Amino acid sequence: MSNFWSIWITVLTLIVIAGCFFILRKMSQNNTGIEEGESMGHSFDGIEELNNPLPKWWSYMYYITIVFSLIYLAMYPGLGNYKGLFGWTSSNQSIGTDQGIKIDSAAALEAAKAENRLSQYDREVAHADDKYGPIFDAYLATPLEELVKNKEALKVGGRLFLQNCAQCHGSDARGSKGFPNLTDKDWLYGGELTDIKTTLMNGRNGMMPPKGGLPIEESEFKGLAEYVVKLSGGEHDAALAAQGQGSFMKGCFACHGMDATGNKFMGAPNLTDDIWLYGSSRGSIIETIQYGRAGVMPAWKDILGEEKVHVIAAYVYSLSNK
Ligand code: HEC
Ligand code: HEC
Repeated sequence: MSNFWSIWITVLTLIVIAGCFFILRKMSQNNTGIEEGESMGHSFDGIEELNNPLPKWWSYMYYITIVFSLIYLAMYPGLGNYKGLFGWTSSNQSIGTDQGIKIDSAAALEAAKAENRLSQYDREVAHADDKYGPIFDAYLATPLEELVKNKEALKVGGRLFLQNCAQCHGSDARGSKGFPNLTDKDWLYGGELTDIKTTLMNGRNGMMPPKGGLPIEESEFKGLAEYVVKLSGGEHDAALAAQGQGSFMKGCFACHGMDATGNKFMGAPNLTDDIWLYGSSRGSIIETIQYGRAGVMPAWKDILGEEKVHVIAAYVYSLSNK
């Protein structure tokens, strides 16, 4: 951070803290010229405002907060470039350069670890790796068919799921619009253990171009949607659906299949079950046809590593295979 911004932040922070202190002091004094407990002369619907002081416990709490903030700012980094009395850091960036050594390679990291120069966060990560690394190695060496019977492993997988997957698939893994439900037996890309692991390792990218990339007119959307509703067993207008079937034969089947039960190689959903990735209303079906869809499932191979993916795959499988 440049000196200017460092000073800017420091001065601003201290002014705000001092401001809190002075406002609090001012509000604690009786400078109204009215005796304590006497009426301020305001009355609202017969309720009288009295000149009562701030409760002592309340103002003391604020004084304590102010003192705490000053001690905290002295001990830890927070004021611009000031490093704090302990030299605590959350990352290795500054540690490395501080001592003229940059931690920018695996070897440098090992050296820093050996010399105990790691920041708190990295120390904790290194500690966790030492402790849990062998456990994950053992899990990875266990075939998935075995791992799904290991309650302890499934628990670990469940925790990893909450940390990494729940933001998209929901903490109960039931998904939401655009994010598939992982607890049912309906799979875009297959529900065998190896399918799930492949999905997690490499990610998936379901791609339906606008209008399926087919020569389809806007006037055909309604019929197509009606036909899709019919396929899934919904109530429909038979004549309109018949029109739609004609449009479907222009090429929707190329991805969704002749019988419209989907294609797991490209993640084209089964249109005959009543399970929807983007919603069952005619509105959302037309939206899919008109604009296409492109759901992206990130690849986890490089983010989590195969050991963790292996355990999560077992957990995901267990959700629909009790
Ligand atoms: C950024 C959002 C996001 C995150 C995070 C995410 N996913 Fe996904 N996932 C998706 C989307 C979107 C799809 C559907 C892809 C498609 O439409 O083709 C998907 C698909 C899947 C599928 C395939 C489902 C099927 O029916 O075949 C599985 C399994 C899965 N995710 C598991 C996971 C797991 C386990 C994690 C955590 C390691 C995770 N996902 C994290 C968005 C996410
Ligand atoms: C190039 C292959 C391809 C073609 C052609 C195609 N689709 Fe799709 N369709 C997909 C894929 C892949 C998805 C899933 C997109 C995603 O995962 O984000 C999808 C999704 C859908 C959905 C959403 C299903 C749900 O569960 O919410 C509907 C409806 C649909 N397609 C209907 C059609 C119709 C009607 C046509 C013909 C006009 C068509 N598709 C042509 C590949 C295709």
